[in-house]
Amino acid sequence: MYLNYLHNWPKIPEDLHHAVQSIVDTGNDELHKFVGAAYDPYKLYPIIGPLKTWITNHLPIQIGSCCHIHMITNDLVIHKDYMQEKYKVNYIFTTGGTDVKTNFYDNDFNLLQSYVVPAFTWHWFDGTINHNATKITAPRVAITIGTNDVDRLDFRAS
Ligand SMILES: [Fe+2]
Repeated sequence: MYLNYLHNWPKIPEDLHHAVQSIVDTGNDELHKFVGAAYDPYKLYPIIGPLKTWITNHLPIQIGSCCHIHMITNDLVIHKDYMQEKYKVNYIFTTGGTDVKTNFYDNDFNLLQSYVVPAFTWHWFDGTINHNATKITAPRVAITIGTNDVDRLDFRAS
């Protein structure tokens, strides 16, 4: 499997959902720090405040340098994530459409597998495998965390 669910991880409490919009509203898009220029369809806002505290206290992983809210507003190009951590742990708040697909590709850009990931469910994937998201018709907002803490990611999960 290229994308695995973490069904036994705790869901973000509803009283913290408003914090997600507050973080987006800061306008503090950090993507340019990673790629050197703003990439319009993809924004990356550092998680701060009570949501950061909750994540730090409740998730069973060592959180890496990436702990952000991302907002994707259009289909993404196929890419690999370049960051200090190999694995991405994500939690979607708004899917960005009814049939948005997270796709994985080999190094010749042949499609390997597609997933329609539901909201409010922790999941993870290897960010060094080519991937993108397609069929986005509305803002797709999610927590995205980098980790190398493979012992806490279930490789046997579906
Ligand atoms: Fe990515």
